[in-house]
Amino acid sequence: MARITAGIATSHVPAIGAAIDNGRTLDDYWKPVFEGYEFVKEWIKDNTPDVVILIYNDHASALMLDIVPTFAMGFAEEFLPADEGWGRRPVPTVYNDTDLAAHIAEQLVIDEFDLTIINDMDVDHGLTVPLSLVFGEVEQWPCKVIPIAVNVTQFPTPSGERCWKLGEAIRNAVKTYPEDLDVQIWGTGGMSHQLQGTRAGLINAEFDNRFLDLLAHEPEELVPITRLEYLREVGTEGIELIMWLTMRAALGYGVEELHRFYRVPASNTAVGHVVYKARS
Ligand code: DHB
Ligand code: FE
Repeated sequence: MARITAGIATSHVPAIGAAIDNGRTLDDYWKPVFEGYEFVKEWIKDNTPDVVILIYNDHASALMLDIVPTFAMGFAEEFLPADEGWGRRPVPTVYNDTDLAAHIAEQLVIDEFDLTIINDMDVDHGLTVPLSLVFGEVEQWPCKVIPIAVNVTQFPTPSGERCWKLGEAIRNAVKTYPEDLDVQIWGTGGMSHQLQGTRAGLINAEFDNRFLDLLAHEPEELVPITRLEYLREVGTEGIELIMWLTMRAALGYGVEELHRFYRVPASNTAVGHVVYKARS
């Protein structure tokens, strides 16, 4: 049977991708950020999954205002890095596991999550920057990736409760897949940041660190945080943290926190990163 063995969450700041692509990771500004990912880059070598289910948000790169799905699954055979205004990132094409994706899509609909299925889609920094942070600069990504995009760019965005239930439904779907696959669940985005308006640059380290304290062992404390609270406490883009809740729910009750990292600043964002091993 397939099983979810581990979860990773990380911020997905586009400037981190630019630092990697332009050979700037050892700059004084960036070095302390990349040091926070040394653990995962070593750990993943012995823990490379067959498939990553990657919960992220598109930033109006593939999903413009004409169609705004709350939850969408990338169902193409492959996904190219999106051109976000300065050309496609020089990173590998992302390959899907369409058999597992089809199973998850079907089970999620049975579980009352009516996913939008996207058959042609580019993937932006929300997906490619985490792959670069974990796998480094490689010729090919070493596993398949099923992209699941959560809307956080247009009101109404889904609640933390809804994202938690999505994670639980993904967990149940993976458990009933007959092939013997090692699956990881990743959640990207956050932590506190606001990119525009009079509060641009907002960082709430107290909120972020409480979130990190509770996510591993008391995540139920975080699930009821409302959309308004995210906006008020961690800024307009801080709501990307709901992707972390989906990741955590998909891991089930017990997790072991293998690694935790928090660093300010990276661009306008408080960078957070965790690695959890599933217990069951
Ligand atoms: C930044 C962070 C993001 O999560 C994002 O999607 C875009 C920009 C930033 O801090 O610059
Ligand atoms: Fe983002």
